[in-house]
Amino acid sequence: MISIIGSGRVGAAIAFLCISNELDDVLLINRTKSKAIGEALDISNAVPENSNVSIHGTDDFSKISGSDIIVITASTGIYLKNRTEMMVAQVEMIKQIANQIKKYCPSAIMLIISNPLDVLTFIFQKETQLSRNKVIGIASSLDSSRFRYLLSEKFQIKQSKIVNALVLGEHGDSMVPIFSRVKINKKNAIEIINEAEKQIITTEIQNYWKSLRIFKSRSQFGIAKNTFDVIRSIIKNEELVIPASIVLNGEYGEKNISMGIPVKINKDGVKEIIEIKLNESESRSLKISAQTIRDYIKSLNNQ
Ligand code: LAC
Repeated sequence: MISIIGSGRVGAAIAFLCISNELDDVLLINRTKSKAIGEALDISNAVPENSNVSIHGTDDFSKISGSDIIVITASTGIYLKNRTEMMVAQVEMIKQIANQIKKYCPSAIMLIISNPLDVLTFIFQKETQLSRNKVIGIASSLDSSRFRYLLSEKFQIKQSKIVNALVLGEHGDSMVPIFSRVKINKKNAIEIINEAEKQIITTEIQNYWKSLRIFKSRSQFGIAKNTFDVIRSIIKNEELVIPASIVLNGEYGEKNISMGIPVKINKDGVKEIIEIKLNESESRSLKISAQTIRDYIKSLNNQ
C-alpha cells in the first residue's frame, strides 16, 4: 500500500498516477478528512476495469500501518517568495508526522516532497532514525526535468535530444545545473552555451516555480510524475538513477545535511549513492549549496 500524507494538488496527482497505472492500493491521509475522502471518491473512478487496486481517504494516521511506501506532501500553508519562508512551521509539522510514522509504520520507504525539501528530509531522518537509504527527498529530479525542458525550448528540439540534464544541490535558489555533462543533439552543451547563457538558464531553473505561478496557483504535475517514477521503481524493483535528496555521510565532501545528488533506487530505497565528476565551478557551487542547507538547519537550532 502507498500512503500519501497530504491530499492537496500534489498528493492527489500522485495518487491519480499510482491508481490509473495500477501500482498498488493508495491511502490518502489529510487533516481535513473530507478532502481526503473527496479525492479518493474521484480517483476511485480512475481504477481501470478488472483492476484490483483501490483508494481510500482518512484523517486517521493509524490506517497507514502496513504501508510499503509513505509519501509526505503535507504543508502548513503556501510559501510565496521562497521555499524556506514557512520553515519553522514545516519542521514542526514534519516532526509530528515523524512521530506518527514511528508509531504506526516505521518499516516503509519514505518519500519527502514537502518544502523546504532538503531541510525536512534531514530533520525527518534524524527524528525517525530510519536508515538514510529509506528516506528520499524528491525534487532534484524535478529540477533536472525543468533543465531539460528549458534547453529543449532554447534550441527548439525535442526533450529526447537533451541527454544528462542534471541538477544537484539544494531544491532552492542555490541549486546547481551540471552543464558539463549535458549533451544537446549529441553535442557537448559547454561547446554551444556561453557563460552568460548558462547563468540565464540557471536562474530560469531556480525560478521556474515562480514563473509557473504567473499562470497557475503552484506546481503540481511535474513533481507528481517525478514522485510517481520513484514509487514505480520501488514497487516494480526497476532500478532508477535520478538526483534526489539524501542524508550525506561524506559523499561529495559533505556530512550532516540532506542534499540532491545522483542515487540509484530499487525496491529497498536508495541502493547506491553515485559520485560523479564535476568541474571546478560546479564543485564550488555545490559546496555553496551544501552550506546554504547547513545554515538553514543551524538556524533551526537557534530558534
Ligand atoms: C517546485 C516545488 C515542488 O519546485 O518545490 O515546484
